[in-house]
Amino acid sequence: MTDPAPKKLFIKTYGCQMNVYDSDRMADALAPHGYVPTTELESADLVVLNTCHIREKASEKVFSELGRLKELRDERRAAGEDMMIGVAGCVAQAEGEEIIRRSPAVDLVFGPQSYHRLPDLVAKALGGQVVDTEFPPEDKFEHLPAPRKEVTISRGLTAFLTVQEGCDKFCSFCVVPYTRGAEVSRPVNQVLAEARNLVEAGVRELTLLGQNVNAYHGLTESGRAMGLGELLHRLAEIPGLERLRYTTSHPRDMDHALIEAHRDLDKLMPYLHLPVQSGSDRILKAMNRRHDRDEYLRLIERIKAARPDMALSGDFIVGFPGETEEDFEATLAIIREAQYASAFSFKYSTRPGTPGATMNEQVPEEVKVERLARLQALVIEQQRAFNRSCVGRTLDVLLERKGRMPGQLGGRSPYLQAVHLDAPEHLIGTIQPVEIIDVGNNSLSGKIVMGMERNSASLVESRSFARSN
Ligand code: SAH
Ligand code: SF4
Ligand code: F3S
Repeated sequence: MTDPAPKKLFIKTYGCQMNVYDSDRMADALAPHGYVPTTELESADLVVLNTCHIREKASEKVFSELGRLKELRDERRAAGEDMMIGVAGCVAQAEGEEIIRRSPAVDLVFGPQSYHRLPDLVAKALGGQVVDTEFPPEDKFEHLPAPRKEVTISRGLTAFLTVQEGCDKFCSFCVVPYTRGAEVSRPVNQVLAEARNLVEAGVRELTLLGQNVNAYHGLTESGRAMGLGELLHRLAEIPGLERLRYTTSHPRDMDHALIEAHRDLDKLMPYLHLPVQSGSDRILKAMNRRHDRDEYLRLIERIKAARPDMALSGDFIVGFPGETEEDFEATLAIIREAQYASAFSFKYSTRPGTPGATMNEQVPEEVKVERLARLQALVIEQQRAFNRSCVGRTLDVLLERKGRMPGQLGGRSPYLQAVHLDAPEHLIGTIQPVEIIDVGNNSLSGKIVMGMERNSASLVESRSFARSN
């Protein structure tokens, strides 16, 4: 008996890093059923849109994309071929049946908690449209196959690992608690096993993911809940794993053990994404963030006391209902005080079903546009200042790939800055001390500090070993 011809799978990913991770896991789930990832939409047998619901724009994109997919499928059907269309992710979870009502060409709608059921759902969809947005009782991660080495290796030296999903915080602007469900942490051993596999496949840097990653409280084998600080200590013990990061954190969940991990673990990068959203106590309260401006600033002080070279990034929302000019200026003020190495900022987007949607005093669009421009000017200025402050410093750079020019390599600093330098190719996969000599628009350039080049033959060996497996 011969195997059936491989089927081609095209996944388009929107939204956050958790969706990026999930898309790979969907591909893992379908691999044993003959689905091979492709980058060519036109010839795919199954197209999955892994969607994001966080702001209206993100969510509406899906429907225009579905319109284009329908046209493509009509053409292919006319040519005697076919294509299945699936919608996954947070829009799928939030809209469910509504997606099929608006876009009847869709065969399959399934939420983030159903990815382990994907092969069954695809089989069912051959017989008619399927919607699965249940929050099943079983642990999806128990039932998903381990990340495949080929995928990990093709992604290179860095990988994401989801350790926590969902959110119980219910900030009044946010859909995540509805689309991802209640907060769940993966058991410690499951996380450690996945991390070891990734490292064996050549990964040197892991970013732990969760909508509230620092609320992690995974169970140990003996049934004790372990926090993120302790988990990071355990991960740091894995030989060959050189760098650790985590995102996204909530200020309320930065506990003592996690701050101490920043003090004690060299492998934990001194770069923290710690969104504050607003600098106005009145707005923070209306957002249900459950901390005020001073608590946030004091927390940053404690973190910087533990790790003086720590740099911050943040998220900000302008134009939350009721935000006055004075409230907005308080946001600019907290940005000046906290000092960010980078930041993401958004106009408040009304999300159906969230408390913010029915609040009075929605802010007019033109005010949001104007505030966003002022805020972005400030954070860009800070980002440039931070990059300039790196000139003359020696930063560890994980060399990840060949650079744009011959003889150049490219990598990332601890602060996720892209760094270019002249270096021989055999150093790819190693971390080198690099003196930063110049700042470009989107990257830094530097040179390996003479006499300090680290020869990590063992790392390179284990990587080529993984490749030949
Ligand atoms: N859990 C993280 C945030 C996840 S959502 C935290 O609590 O910080 C990522 C970012 O999207 C948020 O930090 C926020 O800045 C932005 N965001 C979420 N909902 C939004 C909305 N309705 N309008 C505009 N921006 C929003
Ligand atoms: Fe959304 Fe707030 Fe949860 Fe972050 S903490 S995911 S902003 S509800
Ligand atoms: Fe978007 Fe869902 Fe992530 S709404 S930001 S894809 S958790």
